[in-house]
Amino acid sequence: MSMPQAALPSALTAKFDSRSARIGIIGMGYVGLPLALLFSEQGFEVTGFDNDAAKVATLNAGGSYIVRILPDQIRAAQTHGFRATSDYSEITAQDAIIICVPTPLNEYHEPDLSYVTGTVESIAPHTHAGQLIVLESTTYPGTTEEEVVPRLEKGNPLGLRIERAGDTPATPSLYVAFSPEREDPGNDTVARHDIPKVVGGCGPLALALASAMYQSIFRRVVPVSSPSAAEMTKLLENIYRCVNIALVNELKQLCMRMGIDIHEVIDAAKTKPFGFQPFYPGPGLGGHCIPIDPFYLSWKAKQFDFHTRFIELAGEVNSAMPYFVIEQVANGLNDHAKAIRGSKILVLGLAYKRDIDDLRESPSLTIIELLRNKGAIVSYNDPFFPTVGQGRHYALNMASTPLDNLASFDAVVIVTDHSAYNYQSIVDQSQLVIDTRNATKGILSDKILRC
Ligand SMILES: NC(=O)c1ccc[n+]([C@@H]2O[C@H](COP(=O)([O-])OP(=O)(O)OC[C@H]3O[C@@H](n4cnc5c(N)ncnc54)[C@H](O)[C@@H]3O)[C@@H](O)[C@H]2O)c1
Repeated sequence: MSMPQAALPSALTAKFDSRSARIGIIGMGYVGLPLALLFSEQGFEVTGFDNDAAKVATLNAGGSYIVRILPDQIRAAQTHGFRATSDYSEITAQDAIIICVPTPLNEYHEPDLSYVTGTVESIAPHTHAGQLIVLESTTYPGTTEEEVVPRLEKGNPLGLRIERAGDTPATPSLYVAFSPEREDPGNDTVARHDIPKVVGGCGPLALALASAMYQSIFRRVVPVSSPSAAEMTKLLENIYRCVNIALVNELKQLCMRMGIDIHEVIDAAKTKPFGFQPFYPGPGLGGHCIPIDPFYLSWKAKQFDFHTRFIELAGEVNSAMPYFVIEQVANGLNDHAKAIRGSKILVLGLAYKRDIDDLRESPSLTIIELLRNKGAIVSYNDPFFPTVGQGRHYALNMASTPLDNLASFDAVVIVTDHSAYNYQSIVDQSQLVIDTRNATKGILSDKILRC
């Protein structure tokens, strides 16, 4: 799609070009805080909004609560005017507002949009004509136009209308867009500003304004025709991952029965220079995105009498993987004439993926709970989590166990392949290693059960 030629609210465009626009980012989490730093590095004055007073205090004291963001980066941003607040009245002072709040599922596995709708209702009274408001939280197609726009129109005290496709208000308006976040935590191979930014506006001016804003921090902006197209783009990307991971998880189980090493097969297949992208099996999905986002679409699809079978099937396969790991632990112990009940088991790695400090939806938590429920005496080790309180379904209240007496465990289960671990040494010292990540690749030992 080519860039729209509509006349822009030129004062704001000029402010983006000159880096003098004031940017407010709501939600100082894994998405919002790095985005705030990116704008700040380009010279923008950024205000971070968060309703967690502890996070606000940490940031204003020049500290960080995300391992891969260093306090030095926060302090550098402060020299460009970065500060955090919980006070929504400061929305009035912003030229652009970007919403990066959570979009989880509720207990019935349905979208919980309350963070998004609550945020929009809170900011609406403080908006003024000409502001750009962009939603970045991952969500189903239609959210921006059906949930965000009406709340902004209803809640703003000036009666401002929002530009829509084919209906550009003559009077000054609010401009609304959706732009999905594409961060890959722990992956430093692509610089943040090199990740193309997809943008869909509620109308041509909103698209042009949002594109101008993102062009000041991203190398490439990819405009699409509507917020729904941008919302769907993000879901397609995540469903693609979810379905392909489910496929290799299923094929791994078949390969194990057939005595074939799935990792050898993937390594061979990925030499094909076209038409194949490698995905890797594991102990189950984790994080705030891949296990959750697809179900935003399957929920919305029902409104259109449509059943998203690939999403359901992938969810079924992936959510069964922690149970498959437990079966393998039982098999490994069985070979040593032991049962899970009463065995001492060490789970290595709590984070949902390598080298990050994020526990959300982590399969490790499910695996610990399943092992405990079967009567195992479970410990864990994770350099990123000295303690863990809440598990998936109940409080775990555990502390990370040092790796100085591995021989005392009946089994060591590698759930997260952090790069700080010395896998040769772990295998050497352990009685039995259940490896769910191929972390022990190349190590020859009959103590290892790869699954
Ligand atoms: N984490 C990722 O890797 C990733 C990647 C792509 C997209 N996303 C999407 O981005 C969104 C945010 O995810 P995240 O990982 O940054 O979540 P997060 O939980 O790390 O951060 C969200 C922040 O919003 C704050 N918050 C909640 N309600 C608020 C409110 N009403 N006002 C102000 N602050 C509020 C929370 O205190 C928290 O600090 C989600 O929709 C997620 O799906 C996340």
